Amino acid sequence: MKLAEKVAIVTGSTRGIGQAIAEELARQGAKVVISGRNGERAQQVAAAIQEAGGEAIAVQADVSHMADAQRLVKETLDRWGRIDILINNAGITRDNLLLRMSEEEWDTVLQVNLKGAFNCTKSVTRQMMKQRQGRIINITSVVGQMGNAGQANYAASKAGLIGFTKSVARELASRNITCNAVAPGYIQTDMTAALDDAVKDSLKQQIPLGRLGTPEDVARVVAFLCSDDAAYITGQVINVDGGMVMT
Ligand SMILES: NC(=O)c1ccc[n+]([C@@H]2O[C@H](COP(=O)([O-])OP(=O)(O)OC[C@H]3O[C@@H](n4cnc5c(N)ncnc54)[C@H](O)[C@@H]3O)[C@@H](O)[C@H]2O)c1
Repeated sequence: MKLAEKVAIVTGSTRGIGQAIAEELARQGAKVVISGRNGERAQQVAAAIQEAGGEAIAVQADVSHMADAQRLVKETLDRWGRIDILINNAGITRDNLLLRMSEEEWDTVLQVNLKGAFNCTKSVTRQMMKQRQGRIINITSVVGQMGNAGQANYAASKAGLIGFTKSVARELASRNITCNAVAPGYIQTDMTAALDDAVKDSLKQQIPLGRLGTPEDVARVVAFLCSDDAAYITGQVINVDGGMVMT
């Protein structure tokens, strides 16, 4: 159990990649905080982890509000007294071509994907500095590296997360806190379920490994970055994309 006794907050863990990450961290022994806007769903995911023999609590929180991020941290500390791992996974899309994109579509995506990571990271930092130990992992996207027509807002938020990751890694390294980003390619979740088969087929052509990824493909890499095996890795972007982006 590589993560025994570690306490982990996973934002947006009520479904998809975040849920898979929370389940994997729990399987490896971590105590996990399931969090999302939907409190009822968070309770269900936490209950399923407990039934499988893991430790989990649910905290309803909208990461785009600083007050919610602070409450998320406070409730974690009230329950377990420490925070070792923060996974900034919560994310949304509001796709549109630039000419049609509304200010609201731009602002909402930046507010959740980028400001949400700022809110949660700022809120855990004091505790991790006190512990002189911590792992922060930001879920970015290949779209933040390559760009994508119709996703200027999403791509900007995910590219912003990469700069944020590198800056936080430099600021907190002296306190033994690492900060890395994981960049998934196309992963089978609700977010990509809306794509029609023709689009999925054309995407597969761009993926050397010839298949879409699964949430578990991403979760295992995140769990590795949380473990002691990854102690000397910080400020990096790890792609989990079947070879779509090779830098
Ligand atoms: N699915 C993919 O192909 C893919 C690829 C690259 C990156 N990603 C990124 O991975 C992350 C998870 O994606 P997914 O496919 O599982 O998406 P999803 O839509 O299935 O799940 C997103 C999760 O984030 C939560 N969330 C949304 N807004 C929130 C808010 N304001 N506060 C708290 N929680 C909020 C949702 O409740 C949900 O639990 C996102 O950051 C996404 O951008 C996904």
